[in-house]
Amino acid sequence: MRALKVIDLFCGCGGFSLGFDYAGFEIIYALDNWETACKSYQVNFPQVDIYCEDALNVKPSEIPNCDIVIGSPPCQDFSVANLKKSYDTALIDWFWGVVRRKNPKYVIMEEVPQGRKASD
Ligand SMILES: C[S@@+](CC[C@H](N)C(=O)[O-])C[C@H]1O[C@@H](n2cnc3c(N)ncnc32)[C@H](O)[C@@H]1O
Repeated sequence: MRALKVIDLFCGCGGFSLGFDYAGFEIIYALDNWETACKSYQVNFPQVDIYCEDALNVKPSEIPNCDIVIGSPPCQDFSVANLKKSYDTALIDWFWGVVRRKNPKYVIMEEVPQGRKASD
């Protein structure tokens, strides 16, 4: 039986990927815009194509089709530690845009547990 194919958005150095790799899934693509994290990811997962880009510059059509989308969009804006009155949903909107385009079997998005709500 073939392993389900996974893409990891906002992959950092690969913590989320590591769990999927251990569980027998095939990571086929990863994306982050922090060069240090990308270099670490590439050492940790030399078999994966990693793209070191600002997500907002990447079109969903440029991302390979997959069975599972996993991702951890930055949480700073939504954290209770954010004392600003405003927050930016652009990267989360981008993540869901990729999900709509790829139409995977499963999606897991990791975020902070007590994030701010749009009504706050
Ligand atoms: C919560 S961390 C991800 C942690 C990762 N899942 C792991 O297990 O190591 C969020 C990541 O989003 C990346 N990031 C922030 N803004 C980004 C952007 N505009 N495009 C791509 N990646 C971005 C950061 O560099 C950071 O690695």
